[in-house]
Amino acid sequence: MSATQEHRSLLGRRTVVAAVGAAGAAAALTACGGSDGSNGSGGSDSVQQPGSGGEQQGGAVLAATADIPEGGGVVFAAQKVVVTQPKPGEFKAFSSTCTHQGCAVKDVSAGMITCPCHNSTFDAATGSPTGGPATQPLPAREITVEGDAIRLA
Ligand code: FES
Repeated sequence: MSATQEHRSLLGRRTVVAAVGAAGAAAALTACGGSDGSNGSGGSDSVQQPGSGGEQQGGAVLAATADIPEGGGVVFAAQKVVVTQPKPGEFKAFSSTCTHQGCAVKDVSAGMITCPCHNSTFDAATGSPTGGPATQPLPAREITVEGDAIRLA
């Protein structure tokens, strides 16, 4: 009995290893195909395939418009960008790196972006400093809004 169970267990392990191996090979093939562009398909349409390149060409969807509160905003730490909606339907984006000493700004409310380190504040519509030690505006970041998708350009 226990020998049978052990045998089954071994089979199970082999199955899992084989599956992982196949997945790894598939991933390698996919990665290979993606980096080589349209080598096999004979197309010159690599520009029209944003999916294969991910975020390389910009245009990656950052958020849905509904994610950005009116009069407020959202900080996207990974992209180091803060997106605001100072007026209904009007979206702005700025670097989330505070121009005082480089902390990440954190809060956006009442039309103001706030840095938690030394309480610098910036206008959520323009990025201009409105208080605290920062004297330079947050640099604007380019975004595009298509339908309800906000993309980082
Ligand atoms: S780093 Fe932002 S206020 Fe100092």
